[in-house]
Parts: sequence; structure tokens; C-alpha cells
Amino acid sequence: MSYSKSIIDDIFGGIRPAARALDKAATTIQGWYDAGTIPQKHWPDVMEAAKSFNHHLTPDDFFPSQAPSPSSFGYAFDKMHCLSIDDFHRPDIETLLSLGEYYLDLNVQKSPDRSVLKGKTLINVFFENSTRTEKSFELAGKRLGADVISMQIASSSVKKGETLLDTAATLNAMNPDILTVRHGSSGAPALLAQKVSCSVINAGDGIHEHPTQALLDALTLRQAFARDGGDGQIDGLRIAICGDILHSRVARSNVKLLNMLGAEVRLIGPPTLLPIDADRWGVDIFHDMKTGLKGCDVIMMLRLQLERMNGAFVPSKREYFHFHGLDRTKLGYAKDGALVMHPGPMNRGVEISSDIADDPEISLITQQVETGVAMRMGILHALSDVQDKAP
Ligand code: NCD
Repeated sequence: MSYSKSIIDDIFGGIRPAARALDKAATTIQGWYDAGTIPQKHWPDVMEAAKSFNHHLTPDDFFPSQAPSPSSFGYAFDKMHCLSIDDFHRPDIETLLSLGEYYLDLNVQKSPDRSVLKGKTLINVFFENSTRTEKSFELAGKRLGADVISMQIASSSVKKGETLLDTAATLNAMNPDILTVRHGSSGAPALLAQKVSCSVINAGDGIHEHPTQALLDALTLRQAFARDGGDGQIDGLRIAICGDILHSRVARSNVKLLNMLGAEVRLIGPPTLLPIDADRWGVDIFHDMKTGLKGCDVIMMLRLQLERMNGAFVPSKREYFHFHGLDRTKLGYAKDGALVMHPGPMNRGVEISSDIADDPEISLITQQVETGVAMRMGILHALSDVQDKAP
């Protein structure tokens, strides 16, 4: 993927002349050169400066003519499935994030490449309710040209183990290329992956993992911290994950991924909502927001997952909001300019105030949804590429 290189080399004559023409530090241009992309907010300046070099660039020139192959990021991604963050090494994650970033840029400006998954079938099998994740995969698959069908299966009416294997046999007979699976039982997508002959993506299993959410959160953070001249690094950020960690697959996947990317992760929640083994997750644990949020760059709020609770874990929603809900006062304990995330769906006034959730200066919640589609396009592309290369 070398379109930033070709703009910098072929139009401006290299990094230093480009830095002079654009009135930017050479290290900034070097960053674009190495990343292979020029951030979209700089396109107008680059197009303007190119005119003095007799080149008339259009937004299309900021994209390669074809989607990049996952191996063009310098590493052979070879994973058949996306089941848990544990299955990935750092270079796998970097490849997936780079592909997600490519599709994020592409979605804004031009119609995506519908040939990447042309002729392939994606089946979404959701045993638990979902709005954004299912639609996000549906859109991602369609934007890449796949045939997509979605199946909602009410888990309450089925005997889990037996039905899952029956379903696996049925699905396999439909010859899909990729299955995305959400299930109320931890480990269900992994079990399914053993029984079918296609790629399986875990779209959330019980309280275990939600790897695509962690990836989209990481990509959202990279984008947010690359704004205003930042380097987009997650390394060194202090990130607090707050609330109902006990029932959260999002928290488990995020802890693993953020640790891998070098963040300092904190968990903040009442003792009843923290898993007993959390002290072995490589995080710092706090029970009160005031001390926990001190110096945090990012605050990730979690939904109080009442549907997974078989007892009273909090005295009342009102009291929970008072002690653990994010409002302006508690936000004030974090670093100045701290950013807020939430995987959705939100319980406004329970874990987060509307005032914060809807403040575009602070909240990344809408960006998380937008980034989700692009990140899932990247994941689908990477898995499909591995299938194509399989003997
Ligand atoms: C999360 C999930 O399902 O685990 N939501 C999502 O994927 N958007 C978090 C939640 O339900 O609270």
C-alpha cells in the first residue's frame, strides 16, 4: 500500500520537499510515508500544494486503486478464525488494524471495493439479541460484495449444546465462507468452529470475549489520538474500564488487547461487579471512581448487564449512578481532555449521563459505531484472504 509514498515521492520529490511545500515537520511527512496513508484532514492542504507542482489531485488519488492485500502490511496473516484476542499476536493485530484503517478512510470518500468478497457467503447467526453488531457485520459484508444472510435464533427456546451442533451441521450444509456467531454461552463460537469448514468470527460469547469490539475500540482510539497532530499510539495511555466488568465480554477482550498494545489498564467497579480473578489480568483495580480515574486519558463505560444477573449485584440503579455512573463531576477526576467510550447499548442515567454521552468533544461513542463497520470489513477481508490462499 504505497499511495502516500507515491504522492510524496512522485509529486513533491520526497519527504523533505513535501515537508517544505506543506509547511509541516519532516517527521509528520515521514509518518504518512511509513503508514502508507495521508490523514483525510490534510487532503485539502496536500491537493492545494500539489497544484504548484502542476498536479491536480482528487480525493480518489488518496486511495490505492485496489484494496490492499493483508500481506502488503509486511506480515503473513494466517488465522482462519477470529474467536479470541488470545489467538492473535501483535503483528496479527497490527495487520487487522491497518486493514480497518484502510476501510475507514475508504468508506468516507468512495464506494468500497465490492470485489473483495464477491461470490462469498457470510451468515450471521445470532442466538442473542443484537442491533449494532449484527447490522455492522451485515453492512461490512455487503460493502465488500458478499451475499449476506442473518439468522436470529431465540436461545431461550433451545437446549444449547444439542442445538448448537445441529445448527452447525445445518449451516455447514449451506456452504458459507464466513460465519459470525453470537451466543449466550462462553465458548460456543469456538465449538462451532470445530464443526464447520468455514471461518468463524466470535461476535460475543457469554461473558467470555467480544474480539471484534476490542479491535474496533482500538482503531477508534488510534484515530482519536492521531487527531490534532497526535501520534495515534495506544502505548502509554492510561485507560479505565468502568462498571459491570464481571458480566462483560467487552471488558475481557479489551483488557487483553489494550495490554498487548501497551496501555496501562485500570478496572473500576464495585466489588460485586469485579471478577474474583481480575487481579491476574495485568490491570490495576479500583472500587471508587475518584481515585481510579486519576490521570486517565480514556474512560470506557460498560452497560449494567441486568440480563446476566441472577441476583442483586447493586442496591439500586440510582445508587449505582451516584457512585459509579459517569457524570461531569467524575469526569473531572480524569485527565483534562479525557475521552469517553461505551460499546452500546447505553443505559442513560445508569452508567453514563446523557450530557456526557452526547458531547462530541468528549464522547467517541458515535465514532465507535462508524469505525465498527470498517474494522469488520478489515477482519472479513483478512479471513477471506487466508481462505483463498489455503491449499
Ligand atoms: C456489547 C455486547 O453485546 O457484549 N454490545 C455490543 O456488542 N455492541 C456490550 C453490551 O451489551 O453491553
